Amino acid sequence: MPGGRVIAPSILAADYARLGAEVAEAEAAGAEWFQLDVMDGHFVPNLTIGLPVLESLRAVTDAFLDVHLMIDNPGEFLEPFAAAGADMITVHQEASAHLHGDLHRIRELGCHAGVALNPATPAETLSEVLGYVDLVLVMTVNPGFGGQKFIGEAVPKISTVLRMAADRGIAPPVIQVDGGIDPTSAPVCAAAGASSFVAGSSVFRWAPGIAANMAALRSSLAVHV
Ligand code: DX5
Repeated sequence: MPGGRVIAPSILAADYARLGAEVAEAEAAGAEWFQLDVMDGHFVPNLTIGLPVLESLRAVTDAFLDVHLMIDNPGEFLEPFAAAGADMITVHQEASAHLHGDLHRIRELGCHAGVALNPATPAETLSEVLGYVDLVLVMTVNPGFGGQKFIGEAVPKISTVLRMAADRGIAPPVIQVDGGIDPTSAPVCAAAGASSFVAGSSVFRWAPGIAANMAALRSSLAVHV
């Protein structure tokens, strides 16, 4: 898993007619981590991508591919996403009836294990599994769509998770934020302890373009070194 502060473009906002080229453009601008948002139309009210997109991207990049499963019954899809080339698989605490088992299975499959929390879900719901995750994804929007407004009320959850780990003598998981992340909201999350910043619209959709957008995000985070 790439270390330090990392911008992870979310390909949900990319132009799918030019996906390979847009990923290459972001890589040329320093991206080494990409998030793939998998939605099933049940856990969230939207349908997006699946295994074929992961397989195609895996074939064209060595970047860290982070699969964010916004699906019901994520446990049923861990093997195929691991086999298709995921470096990390993140499941939602709200969707996994067997979270302990799913996190262990993800690691057994050779992937990093992540767990995601919707804005309404308290950090304390992770108390029994914090020792089995590499990453905690604190959603800063309600999942399902890109281009939504950043929910600042979710930020304090970042330090709560880090405090829970410290209280248990557990190595702190990487804290990732996702939703409405841009050069204004990213530093706020960094100051609270986040180090992985998923950004869709502010990388792929905003003018002037991918390279300048990546540079703007990076310099907004540099302020908080
Ligand atoms: C939303 C997804 C996010 C989304 C982020 O459910 O999990 O990754 O693509 O998009 P922006 O950065 O536009 O909010």
